[in-house]
Amino acid sequence: MIVIKTPDQIARMHKAGQLIARCHQEIAKRIRPGVATWEIEEFVEQFTKDNGAIPEQKGYSGYPYATCASVNDVICHGFPSKEPLKEGDIVTIDMVFSVDGWMADSAWSYAVGEISEEARKLLTATEESLYVGIEKAIVGNRIGDIANAIQTYAEPRGFSVVRQFIGHGIGQKMHEEPQVPHYGPAGKGPRLKEGMVITIEPMLNIGRYEAFIEDDGWTARTVDGSLSAQYEHTVAITKDGPLILTKLGTQLP
Ligand code: CO
Repeated sequence: MIVIKTPDQIARMHKAGQLIARCHQEIAKRIRPGVATWEIEEFVEQFTKDNGAIPEQKGYSGYPYATCASVNDVICHGFPSKEPLKEGDIVTIDMVFSVDGWMADSAWSYAVGEISEEARKLLTATEESLYVGIEKAIVGNRIGDIANAIQTYAEPRGFSVVRQFIGHGIGQKMHEEPQVPHYGPAGKGPRLKEGMVITIEPMLNIGRYEAFIEDDGWTARTVDGSLSAQYEHTVAITKDGPLILTKLGTQLP
């Protein structure tokens, strides 16, 4: 069942979303060579405390941390680590916050110092593919329209789209229906209705799309060791078009 949100409920999720956006802005200032993702984890914990939010990933299905910190060939669900980031790394920080029980979810990939041209192209294409998907998040379209737009943007540019991890509905629970894949045919899947709130969170790899999970039960890496990036927003479907709850400065209707 897809839970439809009222304007008031979307406003609550927007509050959580704006906090995540501010937190990402702070993280961007802190990411540089020599900094450990553990320091980012501690910063995020403190940020949520200071702002009356709950870091919902911590304890979710036994996940131990507030952030996922996924470096280089880690696709998603990497653990924050005391190992310092190095010049040329890319790192994705993923967070879910709730305010008064209403959630928002956003991940962002960051460059650590100067990165290779190949890595830069991956980051740019992945972010672009997110916005290409968001453009399709309008009343009357289907989930497949979002999925197909992302795939047809990414693949001709030489990147593969991860299949094993997908976006999702979100609200008072982190993961609700519908499932939101980032690949597949247009015109298929549930139809988008006013009041749905979903995440769109494409993960693109330089090499093959397949993932494997490490022995820690969480860390997902590319099978070929190629770099992987991810950008994720939480998006409300409104009659005026997609409203990006996790983008700084977006206004409720
Ligand atoms: Co998500």
